[in-house]
Amino acid sequence: MRNLTEENTTDVVLNAWSKNPDPRFKEIVDAIIKHLHDFVREVQLTEAEWAAAIEYLHKCADISSPERSEFILTSDVLGVSSLVDTINNRRPDGATENSVLGPFYIAEAGELGEVPVIQNGDDLIGERNKDGVPSYVHGIVRDAAGNPIRGASLDFWQNAPNGLYDVQEPEKGYNLRCRIITGDDGRYAFTTTKPLPYTIPLDGPAAAMMQFSNRNVWRPAHLHVRIEASGYETLTTELFIDGDEYLDDDAVFGVKDTLVLNWDTNASQEEAEKIGIWAPFCDIQHDIVLHPLKAARAAE
Ligand SMILES: [Fe+2]
Repeated sequence: MRNLTEENTTDVVLNAWSKNPDPRFKEIVDAIIKHLHDFVREVQLTEAEWAAAIEYLHKCADISSPERSEFILTSDVLGVSSLVDTINNRRPDGATENSVLGPFYIAEAGELGEVPVIQNGDDLIGERNKDGVPSYVHGIVRDAAGNPIRGASLDFWQNAPNGLYDVQEPEKGYNLRCRIITGDDGRYAFTTTKPLPYTIPLDGPAAAMMQFSNRNVWRPAHLHVRIEASGYETLTTELFIDGDEYLDDDAVFGVKDTLVLNWDTNASQEEAEKIGIWAPFCDIQHDIVLHPLKAARAAE
């Protein structure tokens, strides 16, 4: 392992890493080494540029916390999250498509406690969000044949009329985030506000890199949803709003045509009152179609 040259460095390093007993780990490390070395050779990376890359990672670490990962954001804005999501969620036509998870999902009880479980028809708007556009979001969780799925757990999260997610102002507690468990009819329904477009966090190195590159830092408005149901692939996706000006320039590359919905306005005060909100409101009916797990498909 002496006398490394431009020509032999990659082979020497690959050999040094060759004894790993885990074939998948080895496959990944080998590929990282090859691609990184090729990248350095291709662009003839200078020492100053290499130092700048390390500095970028330090800045990511400095600004990250359990509620905010600048590393996930970097992966998002480079299109890596979208690519990983796509290759890991190939589903047949008709099954609801995946989209990126984003940095604001809360899986377990954390600083803010358990994610609130609500009943169908409950309201998320309350006093705190009354400046937003009232919206009724409802549909069925079902399989491709139309059978409703019982016991599906749906997590919804979105930003508020001030553009912020609850985790961005944690001192105020949970907001516009809920979990619904479906009954026999597979139904979900709740009232909320119309989400707004927002920028990725502008105070970190990812946004600085994007602005330096004249890239758009906005995301089109969306409602996040993640669904887990026994016997089905977990679905992480986003519901977008037709007509949003950022649909074709999403900062994190999450938009798919099948996930763009009409948030039609309903002017009926009578219908609004029936669901406990006020007119005009957006009425969003959207079924979510889950794909069976491979084991369940094989048993059919
Ligand atoms: Fe989001």
